[in-house]
Formats: sequence, C-alpha cells, structure tokens
Amino acid sequence: MDVSLTTRRLRLRQPVPRDAERIALFLNNFAVSGNLSRVPYPYHLADAKAWLATWRPDEPPDRTGFALDLPGEGLIGQVSYHAGNDGAAVLGYWLAQPFWNRGFMSEAVAAAVDWYFAATAADRIRSGVFHFNQASLRIQRKLGFVETGECQLLCLARGEEVRHIDTELQRSVWAERRVA
Ligand SMILES: CC(C)(COP(=O)(O)OP(=O)(O)OC[C@H]1O[C@@H](n2cnc3c(N)ncnc32)[C@H](O)[C@@H]1OP(=O)(O)O)[C@@H](O)C(=O)NCCC(=O)NCCS
Repeated sequence: MDVSLTTRRLRLRQPVPRDAERIALFLNNFAVSGNLSRVPYPYHLADAKAWLATWRPDEPPDRTGFALDLPGEGLIGQVSYHAGNDGAAVLGYWLAQPFWNRGFMSEAVAAAVDWYFAATAADRIRSGVFHFNQASLRIQRKLGFVETGECQLLCLARGEEVRHIDTELQRSVWAERRVA
C-alpha cells in the first residue's frame, strides 16, 4: 500500500533505496537488533540494500510498513507488518538509539495501528516482545495490546531462541480507546 501518514512530529512513508545508509547505520547496533527477531548482527549496508530491493509499495496492508521520517533529520526507524501464520498481521518496529525515550515510537505505532484498522476488516493485530524488552511492552500496553501467551522465538542477532511474550490488540479495544 503506497501510503504515507503524518503524526505530530513524524512522517510515516514508504522506504526508498536511498534509505539504505541510515538503515544500516542504525540497525548495526546490537541494542536495536538484539531486540528484533529477524535482523542479523552485525548488519551491513548490503543487508539494507538487499532488503530494500525486495520492498514493494503495492503489497497488501499485512505485508507493508513505513519508514519513520523526522523532518530535518531523515529516517530514524521503521514500523512494519508481516502476515502471521494464523492470518493475523504481526506488528514490528525499531527506532534508532539516539532517538529513544522521546515518545517517537508510541506516536508512530499509534498511527500505524489506526491506519491498519481503517484499511482492513481485521479484528486484531498481533505483536509481542522478547521478555526483557520493557520499553516495547510499555508501548504496547499503553495502546491496548494484551498478553496472550509466550513462545520461544529465534533472535537472529543473538543466534538463539529467546522467550517471547506474545500480545495482541483487538479492534474493539482500539475503537473504544479512540472515542475515550
Ligand atoms: C522499544 C523502542 C521501539 C522504544 O521506542 P521509544 O520511542 O523510545 O519509545 P517511547 O518513548 O514511545 O515509549 C517508551 C515507553 O517505555 C518506557 N520505558 C523506557 N525504558 C523502560 C524500561 N527499561 N522499563 C520500563 N519502561 C521503560 C518509557 O518511559 C515510555 O513509557 P511512557 O510513555 O509511559 O513514559 C526502542 O527502544 C527500540 O527501537 N528498541 C530496539 C528495537 C526494539 O526493541 N523494537 C521493538 C521490538 S518488540
């Protein structure tokens, strides 16, 4: 879906090939990749270029995502969806470490969730965190995600399976939150 969204401080837009340098710069950081399942460490420019080469702006909502663009700065992170094995979309995200703890990801994820429920008839969005990722769990809880279980999930950067807290957000919960 070739969509861009605007939040108070950010622009959420489609990734483009010239994002490769900044993606590689920020993802080649174990503090970031060690919290993600599908990002290797070290992470090279070639990894970013290869990933961007697979990007298609015309994919359905459960296979798309956004680059987070901070005006005057450029790309500072990403929010994306991939199709889960039970049919529900799975939300993932990362923010460059220099920009942590300023509310950017809470702002971006809220916009991406809002967009997803408006663009689809899905009744829920799945997500989750590795068990030590309290900042990410806090974002999800604030937005209405609840914990649904645990699993062991491969973390590429760590080269091992890690205990993962599974979460999901129901459309009805999101709708109530919006009118509250
Ligand atoms: C997790 C991540 C996305 C957070 O982004 P961010 O923009 O710093 O998050 P926000 O500032 O919007 O919100 C973080 C919240 O967690 C809280 N928090 C931060 N560190 C915390 C910690 N160690 N324990 C508990 N809460 C914490 C913050 O106070 C804030 O809550 P608040 O809004 O109630 O004050 C970012 O650190 C990141 O990209 N990390 C690496 C990749 C990653 O973890 N991705 C998510 C995988 S599930």
